[in-house]
Amino acid sequence: MSFYEDRIFPIFMELATKTFRREIADLLGSAEGRVLEIGAGTGANLGFYSAGVSEVVGIEPVAAMLDKAHGVVARAGYDFPITLQVGDARDLPFDDASFDSVVACLVFCTIPQPEKAAAEMHRVLKPGGKVVFYEHVASSRPGVHAWQKRINPLWRKLACGCEITRDTRQLFERAGFSYQQISDFEHPKVPPLMAPIISGIAVK
Ligand SMILES: C[S@@+](CC[C@H](N)C(=O)[O-])C[C@H]1O[C@@H](n2cnc3c(N)ncnc32)[C@H](O)[C@@H]1O
Repeated sequence: MSFYEDRIFPIFMELATKTFRREIADLLGSAEGRVLEIGAGTGANLGFYSAGVSEVVGIEPVAAMLDKAHGVVARAGYDFPITLQVGDARDLPFDDASFDSVVACLVFCTIPQPEKAAAEMHRVLKPGGKVVFYEHVASSRPGVHAWQKRINPLWRKLACGCEITRDTRQLFERAGFSYQQISDFEHPKVPPLMAPIISGIAVK
C-alpha cells in the first residue's frame, strides 16, 4: 500500500463519510447476535452497536486502517468482545452459517468482484440471518448515471478503488438475499454523484 492509501486517504474517507454516520448509527441498532462487519475501515461504526450484539468481528484488508480501528477499540469500553483482523470480504475465513448479522457500510462500492463478497456474506450467515447495509450506488436517473460513468475512472483512482456506478441492490438479490427493509433515496447533503443511497436489511 502507498503512503496516499495508508495515511492520506483514510483521513479523507473519514471526513467525506461523516454526513452518513447518524443514519448508519440508527441502522446498526438492527444488528444483533454474532456480527461480522466487512470493510470495517478505521472503525467508524464500532460505537454504534447496541445491546442485542453478543460479539463483533471486523475484517479489513488495509492494515493501516485497521491500526486506527484498534485505537478506537482501545479507547472505548464495549459490553461485548470485538475482534479485528486483516481480511478480504471475497474470501472470508469463517465457517458456514456462523454469524447472525453481517454489516456492510460504504464498502460494496470498493470491493473488487463484489459478487464474490455477496456470496461469502450469504455463506457465513445463518439461515434467516441479515445483512445490515448502507451503500452509495448508481443513480436511477439516466443523466446522473451518465455523469457517474464519465467520472468513475478518475474517482476510482482518487478514492482507492471506490466506484460510483455499482448496482448493489441487484447484486444482493442475485446472491440470494431478499429485502426485509430497504430505503432507496438521494442523500440531500452530498454531491449528486454520491447521493444515491440504498440502506436497510437483507435477509438470507
Ligand atoms: C469507504 S471505506 C468504508 C469503511 C467503513 N465501512 C466505514 O463505514 O467507514 C471502504 C472500505 O472497504 C474496504 N475494502 C476494500 N476492498 C475490500 C475487500 N476486498 N474486502 C473487505 N473490505 C474491503 C476498504 O479498505 C475500506 O476500508
